[in-house]
Amino acid sequence: MSSDRTGYRLRPATEADLPGLYAVCLKTGDSGKDGTALHDDPTLLGKFFVGPYVVLEPDMAFTLAGPSGPAGYLLGTLDTPAFNRRFESEWLVPLRRAVRDPGADAAAWRQSDWVRRLIHQPGLVFPPALLPYPAHAHIDLLPEARGHGFGRRMMRFLMSRMAARGAGGLHLQVSPANSGGQAFYEKLGFAHLSSPDLPQDTTFMVRRLAGIEPDDSVTDMVLHG
Ligand SMILES: CC(C)(COP(=O)(O)OP(=O)(O)OC[C@H]1O[C@@H](n2cnc3c(N)ncnc32)[C@H](O)[C@@H]1OP(=O)(O)O)[C@@H](O)C(=O)NCCC(=O)NCCS
Repeated sequence: MSSDRTGYRLRPATEADLPGLYAVCLKTGDSGKDGTALHDDPTLLGKFFVGPYVVLEPDMAFTLAGPSGPAGYLLGTLDTPAFNRRFESEWLVPLRRAVRDPGADAAAWRQSDWVRRLIHQPGLVFPPALLPYPAHAHIDLLPEARGHGFGRRMMRFLMSRMAARGAGGLHLQVSPANSGGQAFYEKLGFAHLSSPDLPQDTTFMVRRLAGIEPDDSVTDMVLHG
């Protein structure tokens, strides 16, 4: 592991990181902006969007460690349908015992209730349009870690790792309100995917992984020192 000159390093995520990573998820959880004021349970977003990757996919789960603790994460899976099956049976089923279901009436939901509903009714689907892009990923960085090129280097690292393990394509889900996130992914070669069989309330971006070479600068950042 090595630190770069700004004091950040990327390293494999561990379960001990989860409280810090859940905090990152909350602070980026409003379409990339701080979602703290929107939630009555600060852990629920992370329990849905971060925890299962760290626990079920540790080979593809990384913490961006900053000067004051976790400053970001990089998460993914090679095989979304297989991940979804384990996410349901090994993560969501036990989690549901501790989280009440607020019901289907969205008008009655308050604060974190939409995440509670997601935990009970996650709507995990893998439509045919995504078949060429079976891998998926998440990246979120705290504001202080942005704009240094970490996001690009981290995504290039994950894409090379996924390609080396045989994934042919990667998809990402981005909030339609997160124009900055979409611009970032476009810079990395992702394109918008539209299809009537995709959920219409989220934006899908996709990229083939063929021909991606390992990025030495990021390999250094992760493995050496
Ligand atoms: C999106 C995010 C991961 C980008 O990471 P980053 O380290 O700040 O990005 P980089 O510095 O590596 O930038 C790479 C390129 O993307 C561009 N870019 C990054 N964020 C951008 C933004 N918000 N708007 C427009 N372009 C952006 C950069 O200008 C750069 O372009 P260049 O190569 O032409 O200079 C980070 O800003 C973040 O975590 N944001 C909040 C959460 C989020 O939106 N997550 C992703 C969607 S779910």
